[in-house]
Amino acid sequence: HTIWELLAPAGEKMTRAYFTYKGIKFPTGLYSPETISYVEKDFKVRDEDIFIVTYPKSGTTWMIEILSVILKDGDPSWARTVPNWERAPWCETIPGSLSIMQMPNPRLISSHLPIQLFPRDFFNSKAKVVYISRNPRDVLVSLYHYSKIAGHLKDPGTLDQFLQNFLNGEVQFGSWFDHIKGWMRMEGKDNFLFITYEELQEDLRGSVRRVSEFVGHPLEEAALDSVVENTDFRTMKENTMCNYTLLPSVILDQRQGAFLRKGVCGDWKNHFTASQSEVFDQAYREKMQGLKTSFPWDED
Ligand code: A3P
Repeated sequence: HTIWELLAPAGEKMTRAYFTYKGIKFPTGLYSPETISYVEKDFKVRDEDIFIVTYPKSGTTWMIEILSVILKDGDPSWARTVPNWERAPWCETIPGSLSIMQMPNPRLISSHLPIQLFPRDFFNSKAKVVYISRNPRDVLVSLYHYSKIAGHLKDPGTLDQFLQNFLNGEVQFGSWFDHIKGWMRMEGKDNFLFITYEELQEDLRGSVRRVSEFVGHPLEEAALDSVVENTDFRTMKENTMCNYTLLPSVILDQRQGAFLRKGVCGDWKNHFTASQSEVFDQAYREKMQGLKTSFPWDED
């Protein structure tokens, strides 16, 4: 885990400072303008690549686990012995951008990049993107708690302050609204799968089947069962290869709260006041105007 020691030398706190690249905020340390620019312009995408693209806190870790077991035909050994950041490195991070080059096909690659900063080479390739989205209210709450334990993120302040920052896109990776609107331009393309956290919750088995078929790796019934068992919230919470307990506490302080926190839909209802909910709804209507797709959280 020397990568992590490089990022946070023993005993040193991370800076919690951000830099801005083409209008998008990134935490320093884990990211750099040079790496983001390299990934955007020069990163070589292979036709066999499978990207897991998300706005942070939308189910990235869950989908890494699902695809890790799918690609091994239901055998969980890879997911149980190799940390998820090695199985599916985040291409825009400094360590990820380097390790990806050595990986054999098919590469599993994670990314939180908005579409306008995504590797340009992807758009001339047959590589696939699985885009997972989640009720932005739950994303906000999840990110709020995560920001308190993640050494590279700004202290979120009160929920009221954080709500404003979230709605204004003054958080890492920019606006949730711009992220989804940008990526939805890919809807209907053969190499793009749009799936939601809510669908995974509602029907994990059916979702796993869909994902496995999309990546060209359909599974037998027993293998499907195994993926479902191995990607259950409780199973993942105990797997040190995906619960991030291998990270040093300066990077992620899980004494203050777990990364795999609640794993439910609708936790925002336990956090938002009536007026916060109203502010959110109004901003949502304004910012999502004109988008025709309907989402599982529309009725909330
Ligand atoms: P909560 O904070 O609401 O619990 P990401 O991996 O994109 O950062 O997303 C993290 C969120 O996904 C956390 O949400 C985490 O608990 C949830 N999550 C991860 N694995 C899950 C699983 N197997 N089932 C349900 N939720 C899961």
